[in-house]
Amino acid sequence: MAFSHRDHHPQRSAASHPEDVGRTLDFGEAFAFAQQQVRNLITKAPGQMPTYTEHGTWALTDDPWAPTWSGGFLTGMMWIFADRTQDPWWRQQAERYSELLEPRKADTGTHDIGFVLEPSWGRWYDLDPNPRGRDVLIEGGRTMAGRLEAPGGYLSTWVDPGSTFIDVMMNVGIIFRAAAYSDDPELHKIAVTHCHTTRRYLMRGDGSTLHEAWFDTATGEFLRSATHQGWRADSTWSRGQAWAIYGFTTAYEHTGDHSMLDTARRAADYYIGHTPDHGVPPNDWNDPSPAQPFEASAAAIAAAAMLRLAGCLSSTADADRYRDYGLRILTTLRSTEFIAADTPGWQGIIRHATYHQRNGLGIDESVMWGDYYFLEALDLAAGQTRQGGPQV
Ligand code: GLY
Repeated sequence: MAFSHRDHHPQRSAASHPEDVGRTLDFGEAFAFAQQQVRNLITKAPGQMPTYTEHGTWALTDDPWAPTWSGGFLTGMMWIFADRTQDPWWRQQAERYSELLEPRKADTGTHDIGFVLEPSWGRWYDLDPNPRGRDVLIEGGRTMAGRLEAPGGYLSTWVDPGSTFIDVMMNVGIIFRAAAYSDDPELHKIAVTHCHTTRRYLMRGDGSTLHEAWFDTATGEFLRSATHQGWRADSTWSRGQAWAIYGFTTAYEHTGDHSMLDTARRAADYYIGHTPDHGVPPNDWNDPSPAQPFEASAAAIAAAAMLRLAGCLSSTADADRYRDYGLRILTTLRSTEFIAADTPGWQGIIRHATYHQRNGLGIDESVMWGDYYFLEALDLAAGQTRQGGPQV
C-alpha cells in the first residue's frame, strides 16, 4: 500500500510504514544510487546546474522565478561523494563545479549567496582549508551582508528592499563564516541582527513561521506578512519551517546564543507536532486541500536540520528525540515511494518534492536541494552513528 493523501491531514498522526511501499534502501545502497544519479546528470549535461525535474527529467533551463540559486546543491553532493569515496574523479568534478560558481561571490542580485557558496566553497574549505577558498567565502559573506536594511535590521530579498524571507536564515551562515575568517565584528553583528529580526517577526508564538515579512524601508516598521510558495500569508509553508530549523541551528553553532537554539527547537517541535509519523509534510500544513500530499524536500531539509540540532544539545534525551526523528524521516525517504531507485528513467534522487506550487514549477518532482539535504542527512547520520550505526 502506498502512502495515501489522507495520511497527511495535519491533525492525524497515523503511521505509514515504509516497508509497505516497496523496498527500503539501506544507507550504502542510497549513497550508491545518489552517486549514480549525479554522475549521469553531470556526464550528460556537463556544467549545467538544474533546479527541478519535469516528469522526472532535469529541466535544463533558467529558473523562471528566482535568480539562479540552486547550483551549490549539485556541487555540494559532489563534495560529499569526494569526501566519502576519496575518488579523485569526484574531487575533480567538485572543484570544477565550485569554480563555475565562484563569480557568484560578488552577486548583489540575490539573497541566496549562502545557498550557492556554502555547499560548494564552504565544503571545499572545510575539507581542505586554503587561502583562496577563505577569500571566496569572505567576499561572498560581505556581498550577502551588503543586503542589510539598517532601519528594519534585516537582509532583504531580491523581491524588494522591504522584503525578507524565512529562507534568508539559510544565508546568514556565510556572513558568520566571513566574520570569523576576516575577524570582522561588524559582519558578525549584521548576521546576528538579521537572526534576531527574523526571530521577532517571522516566528510565531506557536513555533510556526511566516514565509515573508514586509517592512517600511525608511522607518523599519513591520508592515505585514506574505507568502510566495505557501498557501496564505497566515499559513505555514513546510519548507520555510524546515529552513527555520536548519537556519537557527546554524546561527546557534556560530554564536552559542541560546535564544537561537531555543528558536530552532520551537520550529522543530512545530514540525514534529504537525506532521504524520512518517515525517513528510504537505507543502503547507494549513492548506485544507493540498494539491499534493508530500513536499519531500521539506522533509529532507528537516532531517538534516534535526540531526544537526541533536548535535547541539547537551541533554541526551533531547538530542535523542531530534536525532530519532531525523532518522525516521530518512527511513521514509529511503523507501522507494520516495527514493527513485525503482522508478526507471527518473533522473533525480528523491521524488514527491515541490518547488513552487502557485507558479506551477516543479510540482511532485525532484528538486536539487531535496536531493542535496537528503544526502547531507545520510552523511550526518552515518557520521553521528559510526560507532554501531548505519554503515555507508
Ligand atoms: N528559494 C528557496 C525555496 O524555494 O525554498
